[in-house]
Amino acid sequence: MDKNFIWGVATAATQIEGGAQEGGRGLSIWDAFSRIPGNIAGGDTPEIACDSFHKWQDDLRLMKELGVNSYRYSVSWSRVLPEGKGKVNREGLDYYKRLTEALLENDIAPNVTLYHWDLPYELHRLGGWLNRDVTDWFADYASIVFEALPDVPFFATHNEPIATYVGYAKKIFAPGFGREDYGRIANHNILLSHGKAVERFRAAGCKGQIGIVVDVWNRVPADPDLPADVELAKRENLLAHGNYLIPVFKGEYDPLYLAYLDEQGITLPVKEGDMKLISQPLDFYGLNCYNRVMVSSQNADIIKVLKKNGGNFLQDGQTYYPDAIYDAVKIVKSDYGVNIPIYITENGVGLEQEPLKDGVIQDDDRITLLKSSFAALEKLRAEGYDVRGYYLWSLLDNWEWTRGYGCHYGLYTIDRRPKKSAAFYRDYIAEQRK
Ligand code: GCO
Repeated sequence: MDKNFIWGVATAATQIEGGAQEGGRGLSIWDAFSRIPGNIAGGDTPEIACDSFHKWQDDLRLMKELGVNSYRYSVSWSRVLPEGKGKVNREGLDYYKRLTEALLENDIAPNVTLYHWDLPYELHRLGGWLNRDVTDWFADYASIVFEALPDVPFFATHNEPIATYVGYAKKIFAPGFGREDYGRIANHNILLSHGKAVERFRAAGCKGQIGIVVDVWNRVPADPDLPADVELAKRENLLAHGNYLIPVFKGEYDPLYLAYLDEQGITLPVKEGDMKLISQPLDFYGLNCYNRVMVSSQNADIIKVLKKNGGNFLQDGQTYYPDAIYDAVKIVKSDYGVNIPIYITENGVGLEQEPLKDGVIQDDDRITLLKSSFAALEKLRAEGYDVRGYYLWSLLDNWEWTRGYGCHYGLYTIDRRPKKSAAFYRDYIAEQRK
């Protein structure tokens, strides 16, 4: 693979920083949500997490050990603006300046996400993503970060907008509402805020690149000969990623999506000019890809179907599909017209049990998955797809949202001990650079 290819690791502010009430930071919706009994496995909160607010230099040391040339991390909006708007918290901004400068000094390209789900709680009190004003507050926040971090080569506005839908429609994510209309309206405002931030970025003449990160979990029919399964997969793909990619890359909502909303009695608050803002040209697209998802209209036992069809399984019975990244890249290009450079901004696996042998965590399942992902990348590059980088989720075990600290995605443990996969990734990167 060519020398400029990015081999990175990814994290997110809420999941690693801790210092939730330090350095003048305001709370976010996830701080509040995690305190409600029953919301998070084990009652775990992100209050301390990996303590990267204090230990970011340790994180940097690990990245150097791995030899990565980029780090994808996010800024906590409420650390920069404790009330979400108005007064800037210099101490919070300085934290990101120090981290960013240190990365640049070490030739690790910063890839900064502005919003990884953590709306300032004070804005939630004003209606959060349901209040159209939030799109301007987000743009103001974005401008502050652009100005403070002028040398960042990659900015992403949003990470996985579907998480906000889940938080407003499905109760299980912050802020915990359970209304379909809320979810869909919040999502329109997320997309609009993306557009307004991109507009600010261009107007300020920032020198880096800007993009958005949308996850693709491709739905495939359990029985490709059953029309109901095929229809179901199509509809789920539209609702899971199509309804973000189509507006961003084609400047419209898909008629099928609008018909679906209509059936539910939902009208999106689209105003004149919104779609144009939402679909401004971007410099890159960030694809988060973990797996594909089999769907069945018959409620068939999917695992049974997969076993019969020769699926791939990790030791604990989790399925994985080696060509997930390969398929997803092809789909975003063919179905959604993504014709800009693509970065795989997340890929990895969450394991609950990782055996310890000779003092080292033997996360062989992670290595199995990584090998298949790397093979998929090679295939894509050989076929001429413009994939320019890969970020492994995650550098460290961290606060895995509703699953708390019991689900591990890291190359390193939360106290920064390397697992077997850390050496594997390090050696793989070195090999690629030869
Ligand atoms: C996501 C988030 C991460 C998760 C990761 C593992 O993309 O879902 O960006 O915050 O931790 O995906 O679930």
